[in-house]
Order: sequence, then structure tokens, then C-alpha cells
Amino acid sequence: MITEIEKILAEINTFTAGSDDELEAFRIKYLSRKGKIPSLFERFKDVLPQDRKVIGQSLNNLKTQAQEKYNLLKSEISEKTIAKKGEYTDLTKPTGFQDIGARHPISVVRRMILEIFARIGYNVAEGPEIVDDWHNFSALNFPEDHPARDMQDTFFVSNPLTDTDKPILLRTHTSTVQVKMMESAKPPIRIVAPGRVFRNEAISARAHCIFHQVEGLYIDHNVSFADLKQTLYYFATEFFGDDTQVRFRPSYFPFTEPSAEMDILCKMCNEEGCRICKYSGWVEILGCGMVDPNVLKLCGIDSKEYTGLAFGMGIERIAMLKYQIDDLRLFFENDLRFLKLFEGAV
Ligand code: PHE
Repeated sequence: MITEIEKILAEINTFTAGSDDELEAFRIKYLSRKGKIPSLFERFKDVLPQDRKVIGQSLNNLKTQAQEKYNLLKSEISEKTIAKKGEYTDLTKPTGFQDIGARHPISVVRRMILEIFARIGYNVAEGPEIVDDWHNFSALNFPEDHPARDMQDTFFVSNPLTDTDKPILLRTHTSTVQVKMMESAKPPIRIVAPGRVFRNEAISARAHCIFHQVEGLYIDHNVSFADLKQTLYYFATEFFGDDTQVRFRPSYFPFTEPSAEMDILCKMCNEEGCRICKYSGWVEILGCGMVDPNVLKLCGIDSKEYTGLAFGMGIERIAMLKYQIDDLRLFFENDLRFLKLFEGAV
């Protein structure tokens, strides 16, 4: 019996298997119930007692060796097939370089602006891009013959000449969201409305027919022009840095009275004069004003009890100043060389 065991052991040691089928043949031949090793165990009961110790040990050794050989062949074969499929077996191996995307600079700046206003209690409100004439113009005190209502400036969805009742258009500013809020909520209202707006303009380095705005509205008892100035000064210094200087210039919007525009001292040239500030030393960053009592009335808010402040800024413009970009079209072309500059920004 010992010689038989040794013969099988030698067979096992030299055995090779390159496929699942060959491996299965090995198992059947040596390990299965009717295979060579179990039948040797069968015959063990006839072994003389004085030989049992030696033969028993060699038998057990044979069985372990056969089982180990089987496991080894099995893992070799499965590794080969996985490698053929191009999969990796070591899950702890570091992966290769992953080319992950980056946020678009407009999204980055939008988030920064909203976050600054969130800190002083402004909630985000959003609304549709297709609106009626009422939400874009009439409720905001635009006179019937205001040039903004002209097809030259606004993209109409329905024909304003035939559909005089309720023309539908692509919003030209996100003040439409303010109207919706004033109509549906009771003061105090404190919101910022980010969104895409559309104007019928020729595309150039400074203008586009699509761009993004953030508008703000705060309505409560005793909201004053001082609140407006302080809020916007807070925004400018938070966004552009503590040393930012601002100035307010009187302006006109149909929906605010008084109205103003806010400029910041040009950071590019420090008042020396450059292309960005058109050699004036100052750059305009937003429009603002006290909500016209007429607008409050039109939207169902008691203008004797409440006053409000409003402001609106173009995200592209703010981003251009922040990152010193001199062509607005870059934001829309999705040139990867440009977008890669913002990798890592959140
Ligand atoms: N809606 C104005 C615009 O699009 C900006 C603005 C908002 C001005 C609120 C004053 C107050 O130009």
C-alpha cells in the first residue's frame, strides 16, 4: 500500500491542469467518492494493526497534498481567466488616474453668492424661465411702451402683436421670481433668486443672449435705504475681500424708487484706469433700489405698512471680475482648457 501511496503522490505532484475540465478530471480521479484516495481509505480497515500508524500517516498526508494541489490549480486557472477578461483580482490595488469633472465657474460663483446671503438669512427662491408679460413687466411697473417690451430686446414665445392679451416670453431678469414671492407669501420676505435669463442681444465679449442673474428681495417693516447699502457693502467685502471700496450712483429702474447702481473700485488697475473699468477706475457690479410702492401694491402687499429693498447682479459679470476673465463667451463655449482652470473649486 505504501508504494501505491507514493506512486499517487508522485502523479499528483507532476499533474498540471490548464482548464476547468482538466481540473475536474483531477478531482474525479483522486478526490471524488470513487476516486483513488477515498478507495485507499476504504482499504485502510484491512491494514494490519502494526502497520496502521505508518500507513495512516502517509494516507492523511496524501489526502492533504491532493487537496492543496487541487486548490492551487483552481486559483491558478481562475486567475488566468480573470486576467484574460482584463479584470483585476487585487481589490486593494490603487486605481489608475481618474479624470473627474469640475464645477462650471458660473456654478461656483453662484454658490458663493448664495452662501454669502444665506449667512444673513436670505432663502433661495426659484421660478420658471418662460413667464407671462405680467410677471416680467407689468407687475414690475414697466410702462406699456417701455423699450424693454420691444421684440428687439425680449424673446417672445407667443407673438406680442397678435397675442396682446397675455404675451408669453423668456424672462429677461429673475425679478419675475420676486413678483411670484410677493404674490404668494406674506412679509417678512427675504429671498435671493438665482437663474438663467434671456435678452435679444448680439453676442460679444461683453454681452450674450443668455446669462445668469442673482436677484435679492427683502420686505419687512421699516426696511430702509441704509439697510440696502449695508447689505450690499457686506456682500462686496465678503465676495471681493475686506479692502473692497464701493460707491453708489443714482440710476433708474421702473420697479425701484430710488434706484442706484453699485460700483467697486477696479482691482485690476487700482483706479489707474484699464480696459476692464473702461479707464474710469470703477466697475459696476449690480443694480438696486427700494421697491417702488406701486410694485408692492400690484403684488398685493400693503405699501403703507411695508417697505422693501431689491438688488440684482449678473453672475457672469461678477465671475469675470473675480477671476479676471475678459471675454464672456468663454463661459458658454465649454472649452476644456478654460474649464480645467476651475478644477477643485466648489
Ligand atoms: N432686474 C434688474 C436687471 O435685470 C436688476 C435689478 C434688480 C435692479 C433689482 C434693481 C433692483 O437689470
